[in-house]
Amino acid sequence: MDKIIVDLGSRSYPIYFGYDNLGDLGRVSKELDIGDEIIIVTNPTVGKHFLHTVQAGLKDAGFSVSPIEIPDGEEYKSLSQVSILYDKLLSLKTDRKSALVALGGGVVGDITGFVAATFMRGIPFIQVPTTLLAQVDSSVGGKTGVNHPKGKNLIGAFYQPKLVLIDINTLTRLERPELISGFAEVIKYGIIRDPELFQNLGDNLEKILGLDRESVLTVVKRCCSIKARVVEEDEKESGMRAILNFGHTVGHAIEALSGYKTYKHGEAVAMGMVAATNLSVKMGICNEDVLYRIKTLIRRAGLPTELPDYSKYEYQRVMALDKKMGNNKIKFVVTEDVGNVRFTYLSVEEISNQLT
Ligand code: NAD
Ligand code: GLY
Repeated sequence: MDKIIVDLGSRSYPIYFGYDNLGDLGRVSKELDIGDEIIIVTNPTVGKHFLHTVQAGLKDAGFSVSPIEIPDGEEYKSLSQVSILYDKLLSLKTDRKSALVALGGGVVGDITGFVAATFMRGIPFIQVPTTLLAQVDSSVGGKTGVNHPKGKNLIGAFYQPKLVLIDINTLTRLERPELISGFAEVIKYGIIRDPELFQNLGDNLEKILGLDRESVLTVVKRCCSIKARVVEEDEKESGMRAILNFGHTVGHAIEALSGYKTYKHGEAVAMGMVAATNLSVKMGICNEDVLYRIKTLIRRAGLPTELPDYSKYEYQRVMALDKKMGNNKIKFVVTEDVGNVRFTYLSVEEISNQLT
């Protein structure tokens, strides 16, 4: 299997990439300093396709394996579900050397990582992401957490996995809207750091979204490598890591205003990336051609480009709750060019005036 390393000193870890490689998890986990007990956390949607293979590979490598299922859905990324997981781990007599495996999308990954970070003050965990979003974004970098009734991801910890294993064959089971939504984050990497990736996405769009094996592997690997480099530079988001939030200020506002129901995360981010670039044009930071290229790729991918019709006061109200806000200004990621973004500090009024 191909691999890249996320280099974080004593918290470094490999990301393995392959096709149909879920069964190899046991073998590569044997190289870790963990005990013989593994608890796989998954949900019924993912478990029915992949649990058997992952479990068999781990058992063959000599691990004793217990699966736990949590219900499928963002609403279960909650403290009450965390508490249920703690109870189950205690009843399995889990100790500090036991490892958790998160088998699923970003929801399973985030909650499992948070449980691993906090159970007995921290036990090892492994990410096996099965959505495109989780493969290129949430499984790498150590952001773990759950939602609070007052907002998404408000409770959490930075806690790195011991290993990430990506099997791009899992994407063939994914519903198409989930694949397209994850693709918005792929486009994001091109815009923030990699004009060649952006070009490749445009040139090979049909092959990538058609899940051509080599094309997808190349793209997923490239995204993980960009994310790894960003996280290595700024693990705890004290500065530069926030470029990964490109498109997310407006995206989160749209998700909040629509009650998290109308749009998938990637769709909201897609509109947010167009809005951020549009604002960059209006501020004289980038030219119309850049906006045209970004909008065209997003539209071709089947993602929305036009903002929903909320008033500027509605945008202001929800953006004022942004947890990245300080001194009444939001650290906003603007586009200079494809492959090049930077920060600027804007009030919610300045942002919303440009949106509507
Ligand atoms: P998700 O985990 O809800 O998965 C989407 C749907 O696809 C679910 O119904 C899931 O059961 C199903 N699924 C997963 N893999 C499948 C497969 N291979 N085949 C068929 N169905 C499959 O959503 P997501 O988009 O993966 O993740 C969203 C979550 O990730 C959000 O909670 C978000 O906050 C979080 N997130 C975290 C980070 C981070 O850095 N930690 C980054 C981005 C997003
Ligand atoms: N998904 C944004 C980050 O990991 O920082």
